[in-house]
Amino acid sequence: MKSVKIKGGVPLHGTVRSQGAKNAALPMMAACLLLKGEQMTLDNVPKLQDVETMVELLCSLGASIKQDGNKIIFDVPENISHEADEAPVRKMRASSLVLGPLLARCGSVVLPLPGGCSIGSRPIDLHLKGLVQMGASVEIKNGRVHASAKHLRGRRIYLDFPSVGATENLMMAAVLAKGETIIENAAREPEIENLASLLRNMGVRIDTEGTGYIRVNGVEKVTACIERVIPDRIEICTYILAGVMTGGEVKVYDVALDHIAALLAKLEEAGVSFSVETDASGEHSVTVHPVKKLSPISIKTMPYPGFPTDMQPQIVAALTLSKGVSLVEESVFQARFLYAAELNRMGANIGIKGDTAVIQGVKSLSGATVQATDLRAGAALILAGLAAKGETRVENLEHVMRGYEDIDEKLRSLGAELSLEPE
Ligand code: UD1
Repeated sequence: MKSVKIKGGVPLHGTVRSQGAKNAALPMMAACLLLKGEQMTLDNVPKLQDVETMVELLCSLGASIKQDGNKIIFDVPENISHEADEAPVRKMRASSLVLGPLLARCGSVVLPLPGGCSIGSRPIDLHLKGLVQMGASVEIKNGRVHASAKHLRGRRIYLDFPSVGATENLMMAAVLAKGETIIENAAREPEIENLASLLRNMGVRIDTEGTGYIRVNGVEKVTACIERVIPDRIEICTYILAGVMTGGEVKVYDVALDHIAALLAKLEEAGVSFSVETDASGEHSVTVHPVKKLSPISIKTMPYPGFPTDMQPQIVAALTLSKGVSLVEESVFQARFLYAAELNRMGANIGIKGDTAVIQGVKSLSGATVQATDLRAGAALILAGLAAKGETRVENLEHVMRGYEDIDEKLRSLGAELSLEPE
């Protein structure tokens, strides 16, 4: 297991460029399975372990993949396998995203139930319920989902919760279904819009409008296209917090401002100031200015456009150094505070009451050896290590590598003193 050793207390200064969004790239990669004998190119794909896992899964199904820097070219033959390999699926929950496109195109699919982050029970019942409504028969046998449907039919589907993955799976299944599919109470995350844009580029009529109401008109065949992955809003916010927590000044290039509005609003409430610039090409950047102490705030995570659950551990880490008591309520996942005990080992004062973290700000954090329990928890511990006095060692760094491209190099370019330690 890899770890990172951080010498904390150094204010970070400088610029970083955002990576492409992991959570947009993964469903868009799965969408390549809709093609038959055609090629698709995705640009701005981040180099991450999760992307490698999706590559492994798609190759095991029969796709050929060429990677050229941050570009990936997918070549999908007429015939592919409908049975997903156990190994990649167990590594990553997002493997479930092949369910919809595989079923739509092959008429049947066998998928081991996916693994993933330890942030609570993560069922895929909403994905399966929607597919059944579209005419699929679904059975779970020996830890595998077996689904089949000669022809999926367009339907009106109401999601009990605006699940990101279920929305994406159903959008992709609807592409090759007969007639019109309407998804109500659909997720509105920017990554959904990126997937819709790819599907439109493939020749599908799809209306999203960002209102949680998605209409997809099924087609017989999709065509080759090129699409760019949007900037990773979670990575951007993590670097903004690295600036805030170290009292430094960090500028992040290639930012979609709307996508990070919730974090900027809450940080402004906590006393942070920013400036936003737009260059001649229309690209936005955000600079976070030094701040001495954050004021305490209250936050509740919610589906987009609410405050993202994927930023919850990082903002909690930041609030450990505020001047008062902050409350952070988690409403999306059940068990997303496992990392709080690790932050407390660094001198934080966090109590968990049900779904809420009660954070009593402390003067300073102190370095310790801590364990990353999942991807975003790992990011929170790295942020804490950057701000802490002394040396912090974050173990189980593999989790962080699933979502942050070159995080050590990027932080070092901002002046952080850290080194990766071998397995
Ligand atoms: C995606 C993101 C993840 C993010 C999450 C919420 C990817 C690859 N991952 O995950 O980083 O934290 O959105 O923004 O895009 N649920 C059910 N039944 C289902 C599906 C979901 O009960 O069939 C529940 C989940 O257990 C969870 C909530 O709905 O409590 C949200 O899950 P969902 O939006 O589906 O998240 P993911 O797509 O897994």
